Amino acid sequence: MKKTLNFAVLSGDGIGPEVMDVALNILKRTGISYGFEIEFKCSDVGGIAINSHGKALPETTLEDCRQRDAILFGSVGGPEWESLPPNEQPERAALLPLRKLFRLYANIRPGCLFPELTGLSPVKTEIIPNGLDVVCIRELTGGIYFGCPKETTELDDGDIKSVDTMVYHKSEIERIAEVARITASNRAKKVCSVDKANVLETSILWRNTVSDYFKKNAPDINLNHMYVDNAAMQLVRNPSQFDVILTENMFGDILSDELAVICGSLGMLSSASLGTTKNSLDHPFGLFEPAGGTAPDIAGKDLANPCAQILSAALMLRYSFGQERAAKAIENAVKQTIADGFRTGDIADGGHSIGTKEMGREIAERII
Ligand code: IPM
Ligand code: MN
Repeated sequence: MKKTLNFAVLSGDGIGPEVMDVALNILKRTGISYGFEIEFKCSDVGGIAINSHGKALPETTLEDCRQRDAILFGSVGGPEWESLPPNEQPERAALLPLRKLFRLYANIRPGCLFPELTGLSPVKTEIIPNGLDVVCIRELTGGIYFGCPKETTELDDGDIKSVDTMVYHKSEIERIAEVARITASNRAKKVCSVDKANVLETSILWRNTVSDYFKKNAPDINLNHMYVDNAAMQLVRNPSQFDVILTENMFGDILSDELAVICGSLGMLSSASLGTTKNSLDHPFGLFEPAGGTAPDIAGKDLANPCAQILSAALMLRYSFGQERAAKAIENAVKQTIADGFRTGDIADGGHSIGTKEMGREIAERII
């Protein structure tokens, strides 16, 4: 009997639904070659959920996610909801609770620039003649995003004080170090851990914990440490010196955007946010989403690049369903489609471009 992969589909707003359609077709097509079927439930999230249910992450959507093994996420937000208070805005009100509730502590963001697309990078082609392949591993449920107290108070003298708190536990650092260890051991065995240990207590703990962890569990992996300001600079100066970057929540937020822009187009970048499972670390529950956002200006026009959503679906197959060969097949098909010269508008560099659906069909034809 064929295996059934069961996941929640949260397409969200803007270009989300149209790139999701393409990604789901690719998953169906891949299942034919690799012996699985997909079963999914679509639920509202983000702006569309605010309009239909009054909140960005309705309880029914959460329940649909709980009952499945992974979440394939589109993107949320848009001009229609920008005037809402910050903590009701789709991005924050949907993504942060999903991360916290499902304990998605490990955010994996591949920064991949295909050699054919180096001209799109703001970094000079002579610095990255062969493209780029870097992975950012970001701790996602700790640090200053979630630490308490987190509040704004009015003082007696009328001044206003706001506090965010950066907290890390050794155990949180160890479990994300383990994700970096696994990732690096399947790649170049090289990890750069990024912190601010010249200033922050949490970073001193971070650096000591990561050092000890790798010494004990992965002496064969080449580990170095870098202060975050230097890392931001090194990333534009010579990005190829990095292979796996390991860092805490906020530094990872900032550096992964920097890495994304160095890779040319946001329309090509996927990401995985992984939690644990009750019984094994092999097939964690995860949320898989493109990095690019809702692109409201081109939504509904068949112009969006579906690659990031498709590559996010590939990550879902790899991590939450253990379908490594199928994931590779999708990644290879995307690579081949680009190598064969097919481009959506965002990566066409002024040349000929095709639409979302046609790009999807070209990729589907190359699944072998
Ligand atoms: C990201 C986003 C989120 C973050 C926002 C939307 C809360 O920027 O996924 O990188 O800051 O983590
Ligand atoms: Mn971000």
